[in-house]
Amino acid sequence: MVKICCIGAGYVGGPTMAVIALKCPDIEVAVVDISVPRISAWNSDTLPIYEPGLDDVVKQRRGKNLFFSTDVEKHVMEADIVFVSVNTPTKTQGLGAGKAADLTYWESAARMIADVSKSDKIVVEKSTVPVKTAEAIEKILTHNSKGINFQILSNPEFLAEGTAIQDLFNPDRVLIGGRETPAGEKAIQELKKVYARWVPEEQIICSNLWSAELSKLAANAFLAQRISSVNAMSALCEATGADVTQVSHAVGKDTRIGPKFLNASVGFGGSCFQKDILNLVYICECNGLPEVANYWKQVIKINDYQKSRFVNRVVSSMFNTVSGKKIAILGFAFKKDTGDTRETPAIDVCKGLLGDKARLSIYDPQVNEEQIQRDLAMKKFDWDHPIHLQPLSPTAVKQVSVVWDAYAATKDAHGICILTEWDEFKSLDYKKIYDQMQKPAFVFDGRNVVDAEKLRQIGFIVYSIGKPLDDWLKDLPAIA
Ligand code: NAI
Repeated sequence: MVKICCIGAGYVGGPTMAVIALKCPDIEVAVVDISVPRISAWNSDTLPIYEPGLDDVVKQRRGKNLFFSTDVEKHVMEADIVFVSVNTPTKTQGLGAGKAADLTYWESAARMIADVSKSDKIVVEKSTVPVKTAEAIEKILTHNSKGINFQILSNPEFLAEGTAIQDLFNPDRVLIGGRETPAGEKAIQELKKVYARWVPEEQIICSNLWSAELSKLAANAFLAQRISSVNAMSALCEATGADVTQVSHAVGKDTRIGPKFLNASVGFGGSCFQKDILNLVYICECNGLPEVANYWKQVIKINDYQKSRFVNRVVSSMFNTVSGKKIAILGFAFKKDTGDTRETPAIDVCKGLLGDKARLSIYDPQVNEEQIQRDLAMKKFDWDHPIHLQPLSPTAVKQVSVVWDAYAATKDAHGICILTEWDEFKSLDYKKIYDQMQKPAFVFDGRNVVDAEKLRQIGFIVYSIGKPLDDWLKDLPAIA
């Protein structure tokens, strides 16, 4: 029986391995992690991450051919194929701080693999890593190998949170990069055989290692760039009276462009886009390509601009101050159908409003108070470390309360900011909400989920990203 072990039981390791176990009942899959609470949660009825369809897949295979364990060394030793899906945070100190990937966790995983291995292994990069990481990993493994053969493959993950299970069932493509040697080719074929159980062969792409590593960074950079492009247009739409939804519909009808990822919003978030672009920027700089680095940097600058533009809209609309005012925040996760808050634009928007002394009442259907308080107190980039290594939660931000219902969040509020596109925000009883708010009552829709006209009829002053402005907002300054 082929044995697979995955180091790192996070958003990628957990769902990916659960699907492999489901599709390959004859393969034993162990997912290991140094975090005891995370592994306990994977073994409980409340999984550590929220992802539609995940519970069902885990329940079908857990205890049969899918195991979650903290006994990292035992499972690595027994495995034929070892996936590594550990954190790759942005460095906060030293060379490349604020841009380069911190490979501490990767390196320690590689050293441990070399230490405990007694048989040949295929080691698979599942984490997103800088180009040429495989070369460093190879060196660590071979210098410590005691005669054991390791083949390194790059198999970056393209799943999107919120649709991870569907993405894993029907991936657009699976990418496997390896050494262009007979042993490298053989390793690629071994991994290909696993995916070929459910992914059509023509969708499994094989390449050299560096192409595979770079393709993942490039794909995320292209996706983020589309969002920044449409967000840049949203600012121009507001200035000219054009409607960004109509513009992106017309643009997206061009089959060369396509309609996906063209929704204007308060900005992109999630654990990958910013981190991967910073990483790409750093690699370009290290390779003497400052023009290319600056090109990609701009994608992040526009994203930051979009968030501060939104905060400025809120403050300037509300008589240039939100000091002491209650602002309801609807949605905190970085997108709907996930409880993930890593790099969510809600953090920067909330911090911006708190900077102007607002009182915030936050509701998100999947994010709890502890997480929100941690996020608002944490320093930039600290979130991307195993939870037990993160700084202890500093004192909670007093001006923030977290409630479990949109109606409680909006009671007596002066304004509402919609920051995540949860479906339930479309069908709230906005008349009831209006009646219990301070007047004038404002809605700032950062995701274009509400019917602005209907809300205006109720009496709200409405701001929707990239849409023709309400008279109230027309002459107010909005520039960051
Ligand atoms: P995560 O933070 O949810 O999970 C990483 C896990 O690795 C943590 O549970 C941590 O405790 C564990 N870990 C760290 N060092 C370890 C070690 N030495 N031994 C055992 N366990 C260790 O991170 P996530 O989101 O799963 O991401 C993992 C990698 O995949 C990152 O490189 C990320 O950039 C990449 N990625 C993430 C995607 C996403 O949607 N979250 C999508 C595609 C790639």
